[in-house]
Amino acid sequence: MAKQEDVFKKVISHAKEYGFIFPSSEIYDGLSAIYDYGQNGAELKNNIKQYWWKAMVQLNENIVGIDSAIFMHPTIWKASGHVDAFNDPLIDNKDSKKRFRADVLIEDYCAKIEEKENKEIEKAAKRFGDAFDKAEFEATNPKVLEYRAKRAAILTRMAKSLETENLADVKALIEELEIADPDTGSRNWTEVRQFNLMFGTKLGAASENATELYLRPETAQGIFVNYLNVQKTSRHKLPFGIAQIGKAFRNEIVARQFIFRMREFEQMEMQYFVPPGTELEFYEYWKQTRLKWHLALGLGAENYRFHDHEKLAHYANAAADIEFNFPFGFKELEGIHSRTDFDLKAHEKFSGRKLQYFDPERNESYVPYVVETSVGLDRLFLALFSTCLKDEVLEDGSERTVLSLPPALAPVKAAILPLMKKDGLAEYAETIFNDLKYDFNLFYEEKDAIGKRYRRQDAIGTPICITIDHDSLADNTVTIRDRDTMKQERVAVADLRRIIDEKVNFRTLLSKI
Ligand code: GAP
Repeated sequence: MAKQEDVFKKVISHAKEYGFIFPSSEIYDGLSAIYDYGQNGAELKNNIKQYWWKAMVQLNENIVGIDSAIFMHPTIWKASGHVDAFNDPLIDNKDSKKRFRADVLIEDYCAKIEEKENKEIEKAAKRFGDAFDKAEFEATNPKVLEYRAKRAAILTRMAKSLETENLADVKALIEELEIADPDTGSRNWTEVRQFNLMFGTKLGAASENATELYLRPETAQGIFVNYLNVQKTSRHKLPFGIAQIGKAFRNEIVARQFIFRMREFEQMEMQYFVPPGTELEFYEYWKQTRLKWHLALGLGAENYRFHDHEKLAHYANAAADIEFNFPFGFKELEGIHSRTDFDLKAHEKFSGRKLQYFDPERNESYVPYVVETSVGLDRLFLALFSTCLKDEVLEDGSERTVLSLPPALAPVKAAILPLMKKDGLAEYAETIFNDLKYDFNLFYEEKDAIGKRYRRQDAIGTPICITIDHDSLADNTVTIRDRDTMKQERVAVADLRRIIDEKVNFRTLLSKI
């Protein structure tokens, strides 16, 4: 089995074993691509939200946050284009009865070509050693050039066929490339059809006069339709932003890769309203600012890259993804889009209401342009969890699993561990717990050998363990153990609040942005 697959399996099993993520409705055999966050997962998720919210709303005096409803007027989705165009091309295999996204089948085929290309490069790097010039090799090696040209031709043809709704050609491409069902090898395909990703539901008790609604497929529209309310009540001048964190729902045809592609997920989106003509400047600003925000998490600059969109949606005049190196390769983590005035203009048209802004400097009214940043909370969770989960061999040859999360995001900030229950150690430990619990999320445990307890805290990413022993009773000191260095230090109980705060506060993280 490929190493990457092993890593990913370990991520999924660790997430379950340590109370981060459970398959939803598990006692009923689960529900496809729906997951529940457990006790540690919910804490980590909340901390990620706080990091995002503070960076957006607290640090920027011209960005405010809202919380709009999941149910929205159905015409909103007509105006936004989701009713007509929020589709994925699907194809069924007649033998296996399995359903696939036609574009993903083709993209996976291209990813295999890319793998071959990378192998060529790796082989050459080994052969030439220090003398290897990667850029030169990539630009001149006939095999690499052939693989690249093949990939580009396939992807360009697919993009054109999808854009022109030529679904017959998408099928023809699948057949020409001899793409088979990955599980069964069958090439017995149906036609390609478009499939709308929105979940429908009904509002109202009597079925005859119930209103057809959709579960929102993105949080952004809740911001657009509230833009004027917020602008008027906050009295912000342009440029200003509205941020929101919330659930979104998409009936993904193939939901896979654990929490990477789910049917119910959370987004953290910010729409930045700017005067027309300034949007590309702000687009560049937000691209760099968002990357810096990610880099501050310390997961390694080499794990991020921009993917600038060459083919733009009809409403965008610039768009890029921040891609992250997940256990299954580089994939989209966040999107940054310059959406022009498309959404607000569409809502003006469909609602019949003016959504203009009077610009006192230009002395004119206009519909603002919008730059959007949109990151998937669950994808960010996966990026953090999979990168921070490490197996380490220690100096004495023993092994440990450690989740080296940024301390501010750790579910538990400190564990309070009396060496034993008796001799008054538990009571003393409890007084420490009760004193610190107002400031930090703590964990208390008095069972098992201390080494075992340390390991359990390492596995959930607790930055500090505090051990209470007999000396503590005599001199009001405790031993603190650092998760990453495993160094132990004797400190005064009176200093604990300051020591933990210095380690886990958001200030340290936010000041790196
Ligand atoms: N308002 C713009 C928008 O929704 P998007 O690229 O469709 O853009 C933004 O989604 C982000 O939401 C993605 O970059 C991704 O992180 C996350 N996302 C999208 N679909 C998802 C899914 N099915 N499961 C988990 N996260 C998803």
